[in-house]
Amino acid sequence: MRLTLEGIRLTYEGPAGERVAALDDVSLEVSGGVTGLMGQTGSGKTTLLEVMAGVTRPDAGRMLVDGAEASHGAGARAIASSVGLVFQIPERQFFEPTVADELAFGLLARGASGKEARERSAHALSLMGLSLDELGRRSPFALSGGQQRRVAVASVLATRPGLLLLDEPTAGLDPRARDACLAAVAAAAREGATVVMASHDANALASVADRVVCLDAGRVTLDGPARELLGNAALMRDHGLEAACAARAAAALRRSGVAVEGNPLTAEELARAVLRGRGLA
Ligand SMILES: Nc1ncnc2c1ncn2[C@@H]1O[C@H](COP(=O)(O)OP(=O)(O)OP(=O)(O)O)[C@@H](O)[C@H]1O
Ligand SMILES: [Mg+2]
Repeated sequence: MRLTLEGIRLTYEGPAGERVAALDDVSLEVSGGVTGLMGQTGSGKTTLLEVMAGVTRPDAGRMLVDGAEASHGAGARAIASSVGLVFQIPERQFFEPTVADELAFGLLARGASGKEARERSAHALSLMGLSLDELGRRSPFALSGGQQRRVAVASVLATRPGLLLLDEPTAGLDPRARDACLAAVAAAAREGATVVMASHDANALASVADRVVCLDAGRVTLDGPARELLGNAALMRDHGLEAACAARAAAALRRSGVAVEGNPLTAEELARAVLRGRGLA
């Protein structure tokens, strides 16, 4: 699914009644792959995802879905039927009394049979390291924060959206749950979904994103290949953001006179780059 934003602007009323721009002339196209969305707190990431999901209407600008206007007709129907948004606050997403109902809802609404809905719910939960048998009868509101986030991600993954939008999906997850979540996101992209994932976690984005878009005060300030952005400690720091841990370690090593080739994004890549620089690999 290809989503095109042209000159999107969205304002809120400020404390003195003035209009404050949450999104300011945002033009962007996403089509396949995983796009990471970064930016300081309040930079507009959630607002942008909500505009992309059709949940929030911009004041100005156009949005196109596979070339069709998203505000009405076929474009609006395409958005409604094939977008999945994982909210930053999981409770905002839940409205059913049990986890099983929460997962089944979107599937039944899309025409799945009861049996199919149950199978797909169980599979989506298992991708997130959870069991439908164990959690199915529990209230989604009575789960731990990490369980809620994983159920929220699973309930969206289960519907196999063409456009998968995730707002901080790994926040508060332990390492194993985080890796399971990232693997599920990468798998959705491999299966053809267009994925946009907002995150403050440069390492999480480094492991799944092909491209990174950075926002500052509602404007796109950086947009490029993930390795060029997340692998460049100085560039990210200049924008008030953090590069991947391996890139920051590479920069520190270079400052100490150690040769490090390329833009390593993971500990393994950094180790190989250092060894190569010393003729040891
Ligand atoms: N309902 C609202 N009413 C007024 N202002 C809002 C509202 N929602 C968001 N804003 C403002 O819009 C701007 C962008 O907010 P947004 O939630 O998109 O930021 P964010 O990048 O997702 O931040 P975070 O990293 O904290 O999640 C902020 O200045 C915020 O205060
Ligand atoms: Mg946000």
